[in-house]
Amino acid sequence: MALHGAELPGLPSGASRLRNQDRELLERARAASAKALTPVSEFMVGAALRTVDDRIYAGCNVEDESQASTTHAEQAALVAAVFARDLAGDPVQVEALAVFAHHRGALVTCTPCGACRQLMSQFGPQARVLFIDGDDIREVTIADLLPFTFRLDSA
Ligand code: THU
Ligand code: ZN
Repeated sequence: MALHGAELPGLPSGASRLRNQDRELLERARAASAKALTPVSEFMVGAALRTVDDRIYAGCNVEDESQASTTHAEQAALVAAVFARDLAGDPVQVEALAVFAHHRGALVTCTPCGACRQLMSQFGPQARVLFIDGDDIREVTIADLLPFTFRLDSA
């Protein structure tokens, strides 16, 4: 069973001081985490992003038992946003992304890994990243997480 028999943890107490929009984003990441497919690690991650035009897209990690091609929650949320976009409209620009993770029923701190940081930077280097740190929620920008970001046109 997807949750490996454990309860889906609630938001930490620090979420109550967030503005409504950010709490909603974290709640969407929490709901997404319940869908994670994690036969290898049981480490369940949900990510939800809000675009500058105020749409929310979410994703979860999907593990591959051979461990050759696991998809990360942040990647899944970005792919969902790209796939849903109107071709005639603006490119996807991320305003904020929230990550919610748990392992065997306990909340865990999960920040986007290096590869996810690089991918996210393409969709908004100033995007805010919200993640859980104990009872609290931390907020940083992608630029904080990934200085000296690789760019094809940086030459
Ligand atoms: N994971 C994510 O979904 N996002 C990250 O950026 C860090 C790691 C997942 C991948 C794997 O399924 C599990 O967390 C443990 O590494
Ligand atoms: Zn990652």
